[in-house]
Amino acid sequence: MTVYEVIDAKKQKRELDQEQIRFFVRAVADGSASDAQIAAFCMAVLLNGMTDEESYLLTDAMAASGERPIRPPVSGVIADKHSTGGVSDSTTLILVPVLCSLGVRCAKYSGRGLGHTGGTLDKLESFAGFRTALTAEEFAAQIGRVGGAVAGQTEHTVPADKRMYAVRDVTATIDSIPLIASSVMSKKLASFADVILLDVKYGDGAFMRTAKEAERLARLMVKIGARAGRKVSAAVTNMDAPLGDAIGCNAEVREAVAILGGKRNALAELSLFLAEKLLAQAFSLPDKEARARVEETIASGAALKKLAEIVAAQGGDAHAVYDASLLPLAPREAVLCAEEGGVLRVAARKLGEACLLLGGGRQHAEDAIDHTVGIVLTRRDGDPVRAGEEIARVYCRGEAAEALGRARSAFSYLREYRPEKLVYDYIEAEE
Ligand code: URA
Repeated sequence: MTVYEVIDAKKQKRELDQEQIRFFVRAVADGSASDAQIAAFCMAVLLNGMTDEESYLLTDAMAASGERPIRPPVSGVIADKHSTGGVSDSTTLILVPVLCSLGVRCAKYSGRGLGHTGGTLDKLESFAGFRTALTAEEFAAQIGRVGGAVAGQTEHTVPADKRMYAVRDVTATIDSIPLIASSVMSKKLASFADVILLDVKYGDGAFMRTAKEAERLARLMVKIGARAGRKVSAAVTNMDAPLGDAIGCNAEVREAVAILGGKRNALAELSLFLAEKLLAQAFSLPDKEARARVEETIASGAALKKLAEIVAAQGGDAHAVYDASLLPLAPREAVLCAEEGGVLRVAARKLGEACLLLGGGRQHAEDAIDHTVGIVLTRRDGDPVRAGEEIARVYCRGEAAEALGRARSAFSYLREYRPEKLVYDYIEAEE
């Protein structure tokens, strides 16, 4: 068998078998397939599709392409959650401490922000000293000791995905549902979580523009998970407007802390919904009881305390959980006011781009970011506003004219507008 033959078979719209897929993925991981061959394969998949079985086989082969994290020797269910990315999505910072404080262990591998989307690892580094690069042993030990850990996957985990993703990124082959599903799920299945909840986003600020597309992706990932013997479910959620009121690392961490202290908005609503679903699955509880436990652990302060424990365990300054001055915002504060009266519509992508222009995001994986810049909404998507009323504050350095212009362009004032509902669908694996 040759790599050429596998590409040719996919080009001819033939269904690939396990042997062909494993052969190709091995060639990607060991470097014997060239970037040109990977690009040709990905384009053939994008144009000709894959069956669900091929998508599973690709995921399975990719998950096995590198080192696998070590499962800690603990009893009980270990949970994981993954969001396909958006703007002001700090659900992990809320969900992980909530679940850990309720006795569900969490093994969360996260990523960094890219383009207009934020990343959990960057936000966690807002806590001075926080280490996101844990060894497999440290990751496992912390889950055993504290209940949860959030870290970056090492360069040796799922190397086939790293190579394929880099090629896809520059060959217009990202937006293939089988390739996205296998990329996301290979990283989930390479790890050891028993219960996995996927948050598949659609809308202005997301990868998937329509709910239907997101639903197709979600269903395929749930199927791949079930085929691999894991309990995977998926929420399909809206990302037309920023999820929370803050965009930018320090501002988002402040907001996550505020939600663990009782603040309520769409970010809180979604985080609590995801926590309820994971808790219900982990302990086989009715949703209502799971929700009551989630509310209780926040009200008692136990979830906030758990966040401080996780931060401290990873070397971060946990005082910042109780002292917002340790999460400073940039010195210049520009107030944005409504240009007209009407119902406010807030476009997530433009605000994400504005944050990027402020220096709070990155264009390339190696770029450094400024944790202090950001945007805090004073009025939300769907709120009625009067002309001249304050709608947001931008925390910046210097002129920041382009960023301020981009931020202003994110707001429109409509005669009538009702935001889409937050959770479009929730998909569980069929028993
Ligand atoms: N996120 C991933 O990890 N992979 C994709 O292909 C798309 C989004």
